[in-house]
Amino acid sequence: MAEFRAGATGQQGLDQGLDQGALVLGLESSCDETAAAILRADGTILAEAVLSQLAEHTPYGGVVPEIAARSHLAHLPALVRRVLDAAGTTPAGLAAVAATAGPGLIGGLIVGATLGKGIAISQGIPYVAVNHLEGHALTPRLPGVHPGGLAFPYLLLLLSGGHCQCVLVEGVGRHRRLGTTLDDAVGEAFDKSAKLLGLPWPGGPHLERLAAGGDATRFTLPRPLLGRPGCDFSFSGLKTAVANIVAKGLDEQGRADVAAGFQAAVAATLANRAAHALAMAPGATALVVSGGVAANQGVRAALAGVAARAGLPMVAPPIRLCTDNAVMIAWAGIERLRAGLVDALDHAPRPRWPLSEIGA
Ligand code: KG4
Ligand code: ZN
Repeated sequence: MAEFRAGATGQQGLDQGLDQGALVLGLESSCDETAAAILRADGTILAEAVLSQLAEHTPYGGVVPEIAARSHLAHLPALVRRVLDAAGTTPAGLAAVAATAGPGLIGGLIVGATLGKGIAISQGIPYVAVNHLEGHALTPRLPGVHPGGLAFPYLLLLLSGGHCQCVLVEGVGRHRRLGTTLDDAVGEAFDKSAKLLGLPWPGGPHLERLAAGGDATRFTLPRPLLGRPGCDFSFSGLKTAVANIVAKGLDEQGRADVAAGFQAAVAATLANRAAHALAMAPGATALVVSGGVAANQGVRAALAGVAARAGLPMVAPPIRLCTDNAVMIAWAGIERLRAGLVDALDHAPRPRWPLSEIGA
């Protein structure tokens, strides 16, 4: 087991690297998934659990922060007990705790970070404050995700309901954002367009199913920023175009055609932005696609084409590791611990925490 001691700054320091057999608990509570996982430092997932709050937020058509925070508080402690049992261990068997400390909804972040710190204090083990975006960014390095492992630097397209970013992942704590959305996140655009088409929230998967029976060429939808320099994104114009078509009235086939047209426009836009990003990052070893929208087959196919044309592999972690989960938080914690990084117990959760501000 690795040894940890109090550093000169008062923070706990990592003395001798992380033993490959050391167990790390990961906690995720930044949005509407309550999640806990236990990983061995060699990347083996010993236990993982995710509780979705979907049913609690669905009546409101979106995530209600106060409901989310209360639900994390109600469920996270039992979830931790569950993963400890499943991993055949106890808090005393843990070598470190990693919790999402931002960005996200502050109530949920406080619940997860405080529980993580409490366990760290009670066991005298290090606490790692993980940036949720770095969790997504480092997940493709989890052993088994990409044959032979994934070397830095690689290009990450983070495509979720809350985030839409193009990041060059250069190392632990070293991330260069090459582009971001100027308005809505791509998952948000899926959700808003799906709502306009009368689909339940969150609409992305429903819209994809509807699009399967549609003709993508029937309606001409805008392809925002297509061909412009850089790799920023913009989706609000596309959503407005959907609203304008829907306002004129649509039959069943028409709804499917709009869904297909929307999805094709998003896929084409993302592919164009990704191609630009790869040109901006000539040393990249792979194109990694993550976030809930990475589940979309049309989006995946378009991005796989871009990667193939650049002669690079496209890496898409399994969907359960693309959407919010605690495996990615434990893994990011392991990567940070290996780099000798731990956090002080007075580390305050941050609702806004850009990747550029995390540091190694
Ligand atoms: O990563 P995620 O689970 O949570 C965060 O937003 O952090 O992403 C959820 C988003 C939602 O907007 C959802 O509609 C979208 O991912 N999504 C999809 C699909 N599955 C999930 N969008 C398009 N097609 C899908 N199959
Ligand atoms: Zn996320």
